[in-house]
Amino acid sequence: MDQSGTLDSLLQEERVFRPLPQLVIEANVNPQELEAARRQAETDPLGYWEEAADELDWFKKWDQVLDDSNPPFYRWFAGARCNVVYNALDRHIETGNKNKLALIWEGEPGDSRKYTYYELYREVNRFSNALRSLGLGKGDRVVVYMPPLPETLIAMLAIVKLGAVHSVVYAGFSAKALRSRIRDAEAKMVVTADGFYRNGRVIKLKNTVDEALVGACSDCVDSMVVVHRAKVEVDMVEGRDFWYEDLIRQERSESPTEVMDAQDPLFMLYTSGTTGQPKGVIHAHGGYMVGVHRTLGQVFDIKPTDIFWCTADPGWITGHSSVVYGPLMAGTTTVMYEGHPLYPQADRMWNIVAKHGVTVFYTTPTLIRMLMRFGTQYPKRFDLTSLRLLGTVGESISPEAWLWFYKNIGRSECPLLDTWWQTETGMFMISPLPISLLKPGSVTRPLPGIEAAVVDKDGKPAPPGKGGLLVLTRPWPAMMTGLFKDEDRYKEYWQQVPGGVYFAGDVAKKDEDGYYWIQGRADDVLNIAGHRIGTAELENAFGAHRAVSEAAVIGVPDRIKGEVAKAFILLNPGIEPSDDLNKELKRHIKNELGPVAVVKSIEFRDSLPRTRSGKIMRRVLKAQELGQDVGDLTTLEAD
Ligand code: WTA
Repeated sequence: MDQSGTLDSLLQEERVFRPLPQLVIEANVNPQELEAARRQAETDPLGYWEEAADELDWFKKWDQVLDDSNPPFYRWFAGARCNVVYNALDRHIETGNKNKLALIWEGEPGDSRKYTYYELYREVNRFSNALRSLGLGKGDRVVVYMPPLPETLIAMLAIVKLGAVHSVVYAGFSAKALRSRIRDAEAKMVVTADGFYRNGRVIKLKNTVDEALVGACSDCVDSMVVVHRAKVEVDMVEGRDFWYEDLIRQERSESPTEVMDAQDPLFMLYTSGTTGQPKGVIHAHGGYMVGVHRTLGQVFDIKPTDIFWCTADPGWITGHSSVVYGPLMAGTTTVMYEGHPLYPQADRMWNIVAKHGVTVFYTTPTLIRMLMRFGTQYPKRFDLTSLRLLGTVGESISPEAWLWFYKNIGRSECPLLDTWWQTETGMFMISPLPISLLKPGSVTRPLPGIEAAVVDKDGKPAPPGKGGLLVLTRPWPAMMTGLFKDEDRYKEYWQQVPGGVYFAGDVAKKDEDGYYWIQGRADDVLNIAGHRIGTAELENAFGAHRAVSEAAVIGVPDRIKGEVAKAFILLNPGIEPSDDLNKELKRHIKNELGPVAVVKSIEFRDSLPRTRSGKIMRRVLKAQELGQDVGDLTTLEAD
């Protein structure tokens, strides 16, 4: 990321915000307890995580908290047996949570559905039984290609309940992207919807799945389950495609929860890396549930009366940990919204907060920047006093956006918790608690039990205030357990910086108070509106167009999305640049990858800067684009 404006103001930011005394008194973790937790975690990290694990239910407890005999393949809670769904659902049925709201869902047209824990439990059981009757079993992979619907959450839990593994694919991804994920995961089944509402339109989702399942992939899956949402006409393939509603009608509302080994895969989630092929990050039952449960509880200070709204789509890790598993394990009420944040107008988010009495609102800097443009007229029309905590994730938040959110939405009373974490970390890693002193733009300090550092490329700690590579120096429970079918790429995370530490791919600095400031990615991964997308993926997609000989993609700052892509294109001989071609290429990228990949501009070039070995020097293109010093080209040439 090279958001120079943001960076400059981050570097100058010195304001500190304190929590109100009442909030400190009421916090689940007070300052003394936080310090005690930090001390315990430093002196006895395994004891610390063991206590966290004791807060959950297990079918059999662990023989060992952490088996670190074969790094970087760490095994948390070795020998234990559990199922995250037991903790997210089953155990609540035995307590006062049974009749509490588990889920409030609102559709874009304004319809809404609510489920108590007991209702959700029974619905999940029915679908789990249905999936079993379709032949799904332990270890099988299911792609969930769904918009935010109650059935999305239900499907995720039903799949995991019977021991299968979900791979949720964001409904904004194209048929091609979906196909490659279905194939790579060797999925047996797809769960989808006929369509859904987005920005006043109906998106025909099943059609996209049909488009994905053609050619070499026509026999990729055995079955497809389709949820009725938008009443669009779809083609159902006899014997392969089933309506969700038909499947569950006859099913019993009790269903056994599969006893899993703590190491058994829970879900996989594809995320972009530096090569063209997204990586299938794998999380396992035991460590994931402990890490997510402990950190969500600490950061969002969950109270029995909370209504927790994380605006993330279930297709991202934030949706997994902070919409589905985290809130449900905590026994709180989670909110889901199907549609576009500005539909039918820019007050929709505040309308939802006020209508449902949302107490915790967790979102992205991109959304805040988008809403800021409309000023305070919309938030002022609603009673937002139910809010007590705000949060952000996905990208750095500029102090301007931070202050706007804090003042106009949080009444200068609600702590704004900027959480740093990743698909790979599964859980929050560096984040304030409600009682923390906040500096706008800083993710503050690592949570208890997490050890991070900012180092140079030799692994030596960078002095305070100096930028460096952000590394995690100790394994943590919700860490990914591997990359699907790619051990070597998993190992790379631990090999790039000397010392056996995990390199997150981000650059950061630590100030004199030990506060972390995330400065962006260190690698060729763009962060468009908080979504990761590799430059290589974009370049490959351009390369697949008949007019393109070669493409180089860089990230450029964008006022709303934080970062967007700019492409430099070498055309094939005989092909002339034109506005039409420019438009066609943008359309092509949308088709290839989906709307997540925002290409702002395309520049046709006769040549691209290269190293002696022929590699394109994106750094040079980027420096030129941003009007920065290109640097020493002779050393770059040796790349
Ligand atoms: C970035 C999202 C600044 C970072 C949970 C990271 C952030 C990548 C923050 C992971 C934050 C995430 N401040 N940058 N609070 N949170 N990032 O896997 O570059 O979709 O490596 O996980 O987002 O993105 P992912």
